Parts: sequence; structure tokens; C-alpha cells
Amino acid sequence: MTIDKQKIIEALRTVMDPATGQDIIRMRMVENLEVDDKNISFTLVLPSLNSPVKSQLNFACIGAVGQVYPDADVHVHMKAKAGGERKSSSPVPQIRNIIAVGSGKGGVGKSTVAVNLALGLKELGARVGIMDVDLYGPSIPTMLGLQGQRPKIKDDAYGRPKIMPIEKYGIPTISIGYIIQEEAAVVLRGPRLGAIIQQFFKDCIWPELDFLILDLPPGTGDIQLTLVQTVPITGAVLVTTPQEVALADAIKAMNMFQLPNINVPILGVVENMAWFTPEELPNNKYYLLVKVVERN
Ligand SMILES: Nc1ncnc2c1ncn2[C@@H]1O[C@H](COP(=O)(O)OP(=O)(O)O)[C@@H](O)[C@H]1O
Ligand SMILES: [Mg+2]
Repeated sequence: MTIDKQKIIEALRTVMDPATGQDIIRMRMVENLEVDDKNISFTLVLPSLNSPVKSQLNFACIGAVGQVYPDADVHVHMKAKAGGERKSSSPVPQIRNIIAVGSGKGGVGKSTVAVNLALGLKELGARVGIMDVDLYGPSIPTMLGLQGQRPKIKDDAYGRPKIMPIEKYGIPTISIGYIIQEEAAVVLRGPRLGAIIQQFFKDCIWPELDFLILDLPPGTGDIQLTLVQTVPITGAVLVTTPQEVALADAIKAMNMFQLPNINVPILGVVENMAWFTPEELPNNKYYLLVKVVERN
């Protein structure tokens, strides 16, 4: 029997990780796929070996491979993700998924996509929050019409003061723009940035959320690194515009997320501001920023 590894991978793409709702290949949970005659083995990387979905995933994998190779012997090994136990010590265990919206360049529409993603998920019935981690250029207050608002401070059960996120459209949000003048944010540097991000997670009272959307600053700097060290990021969405320079920078950002010690799955890439179509001319496409209109 000749077994094609690619076919196994395709079969495993049908297995969903219940924790993230994404398939296990996309979430990079499958490692060391080996085929030896009719023996197929691979390692399934879980956030923790105590994972409640361990046996469910095991059966789902064996079932999926069995569909394409019914006579093969399938061995699934389980392994805890290095640093995966961090998840249980997450400062925000009540938040199920943390999605980073990033880009290489500024002005490509990250904040716009972050807000729309949040509103879209909310409309689907999910509990969603937004954290504006673009500390130099916070735009969430403006985009949600919350300029000039100040968050309430409330003592927690231990008498420690905590920041209450500001809600709009049923979405709790936090931004440096609520705390200092937006223009003053540009002077923030190095360690202070990290401390603020830690505070956004640890000193804010976040309710139970299905998704927390992070509106990232452009590029691949300190803030992105602090984030991946502070919380487990479920995945990243990259935003770009259709210019070569923006794309090249988006690829740099993508490479950063995929570094072995960062290892944040890329959930998708949004090509923003490619064209617009006015309602009254539904067949017309007006390209905003590109001259070349050759596109398939
Ligand atoms: N698809 C779009 N159509 C029209 N205007 C857009 C679109 N996406 C973004 N914009 C506008 O472009 C500007 C930059 O977007 P923004 O989301 O602030 O980018 P970033 O967060 O990447 O700096 C904003 O004024 C925004 O309203
Ligand atoms: Mg922005």
C-alpha cells in the first residue's frame, strides 16, 4: 500500500480543534507525521496533556485518516505544547480566544478591520471585546465615538483598584486614548509600553469573552513581543493594501508571528481598500489606491 502524506494532511484538515473552532492543521497541532508501510503516526500538540478534548481529538484523527486509508494502522501521540501550560496561567482565563489584528504598515486599515471583525463576531452571537494596543496611535476611541471618555475605576474583591473597560454596542473596550490625551501617547517608550499592556490584561475587569480582538500597532516591535509573552494569542489576522510595499511589510509581520518561539497561527490576510463598489453601480469597481486594475 502506498500512502500519500498529503492525503493524510487533507484528511486531518477535517478535524476541528474544539478549543478554537479551527482545523488542527491550520492550528499547527500536527507534528512528526511518519508513514512506514501501513503504519501512520503523528504527534498531536495540545495546550496541555490534561486537555479535556484529548480523547475526542484522538478518535476524530483516527476516524478522518480511516476515511482515506481504511487499512492503515494509525497511531496518534499526544504532547503538551512547549509553554502551552501558560494558557492555564493566562492572566485572562475567562477569555477563550485572543485574536491579534496586525500589519506591516500603518494606515492600511487595521483598526477598521479590528472594529468590523468585533462587530461581525458580535452579530453572530459571540461575546467580544476590543483592546487597543496601538499605544502610539490609538484610534479605537474615535472609531467607536468614545473620545474623551474616561474608564471607571472600581475596587476588586481584594480592595485593589481595577479599570472598567468602556462599552459600546455591547463590546467592552480599552484604549490608552481613554487614559491619556491621544496626542500624548507618542512619548511612551520601551518598558512603559510593556507595563501598560500588562495592565490592560491584569488590571482591567474583563467579562467572560469568546473573542478579544487586539488592534495592534504597525510593524514587528516591542508591543507585539510583549503581547505574545503576556498572553496566549489564538491567531493573527493580517491587514494589507494592494501595494507591493505594504505586501512586503505584511510578509515581514507574518514571518514574525511564525517564528518558532512566537508561533502564532495566521488565521487570514485581509486585502483592504483594494476597490469600492457604489450601491447604484454594483458592477463597477473603483480602485482607490492602485493604477493597475489587472486582477483576477
Ligand atoms: N475599506 C475601507 N474603505 C474606506 N476607508 C477605509 C477603509 N479601510 C480603512 N479606511 C480608512 O482609512 C484610514 C486608515 O484606516 P485605519 O483603520 O485607521 O488604519 P490603521 O489602523 O492600519 O492605521 C481611516 O481613516 C479609515 O477610516
Ligand atoms: Mg490603527
